[in-house]
Amino acid sequence: MTWLITGGAGYIGAHVVRAMTEAGERAVVYDDLSTGIAGRVPDEVPLVVGSTLDGERVERVLAEHEVTGVVHLAAKKQVGESVELPLHYYRENVEGLRVLLEAVTAAGVPSFVFSSSAAVYGMPDVDLVTEETPCAPMSPYGETKLAGEWLVRATGRATGLATASLRYFNVAGAASPELADVGVFNLIPMVFERLTENLPPRVFGDDYPTPDGSCVRDYIHVVDLAEAHVAAARALRSSPGRDLTLNIGRGEGVSVREMIDHINAITGYDRPPTVTPRRPGDPARVVASADRAATELAWKAKHDVQAMITSAWEGWVRLHPGAARG
Ligand code: WQD
Repeated sequence: MTWLITGGAGYIGAHVVRAMTEAGERAVVYDDLSTGIAGRVPDEVPLVVGSTLDGERVERVLAEHEVTGVVHLAAKKQVGESVELPLHYYRENVEGLRVLLEAVTAAGVPSFVFSSSAAVYGMPDVDLVTEETPCAPMSPYGETKLAGEWLVRATGRATGLATASLRYFNVAGAASPELADVGVFNLIPMVFERLTENLPPRVFGDDYPTPDGSCVRDYIHVVDLAEAHVAAARALRSSPGRDLTLNIGRGEGVSVREMIDHINAITGYDRPPTVTPRRPGDPARVVASADRAATELAWKAKHDVQAMITSAWEGWVRLHPGAARG
């Protein structure tokens, strides 16, 4: 099979491309390079620069490369920015998906894997979030991912397109330093930045109803996440009408304070954090039940948070050589 991987030059997408090709699948990357980096795409994988909003272009690429499945990761993903620019997020994430699905169904491509997010759940008031936990997104970003799931599922029902929506929890780490996330939008890189600038890491609120008062999340190594895409893609093969919605997490909660302790130990900075007020909109605890993915895909995460932090740090030091200690 040949898989079109939209957003394949992005941080997560490049890991999916790597996992797919290592598993023996053929891949073609489709990316507008707005945040993607061409150098992340291996030489042997074709890179087509284009937007999913350009349906004619997508249709041509699907035909030219004889694409038999799509993994759709191309999207805007910053929660805060989505509050400022909701129309941009709806255009890129919902309209971009709608146009892509039109091209996919017109071309008769049978399988579609969609990159969704735990952001669809909003502030879940449960110990472990299952796929049945009600969705109540708190941001335009989360709304676009939920609307995307609806589009994908409805298209599958109407046309027989086999679909999987993968709800990512907190993605971290890298397969190699060159593939590391270059953005500083999440806890691990934000702590790296503070440490590198000789400032204490910040805990955004320590008065949450959690064991140590800081927020608890389910961190998942991007290599494990990429493997889940391979498993989902294969599960859809020859399964017309299949419709999967799966949490992709480890099912293990780690607090912000615990993460900062691990980061201090791994980087050698050993700098105690400072507590600042809560960041608006942060839920106290978001931890996946990963049971359904285990059952449906025979997939399970293998890497722990230490592996995520260690590999992310190697990527950080590559970009900031002065950061390394000792
Ligand atoms: C994790 C925890 C912060 C920085 C976001 C999106 C979500 C998904 C993943 C895309 C929170 C705390 C952070 C710092 C801190 N994205 N924190 N000090 O908010 O759980 O999830 O990214 O799909 O949709 O919302 O991730 O990494 O920003 O924060 O205390 O310097 O770390 O308050 O509790 P979040 P995050």
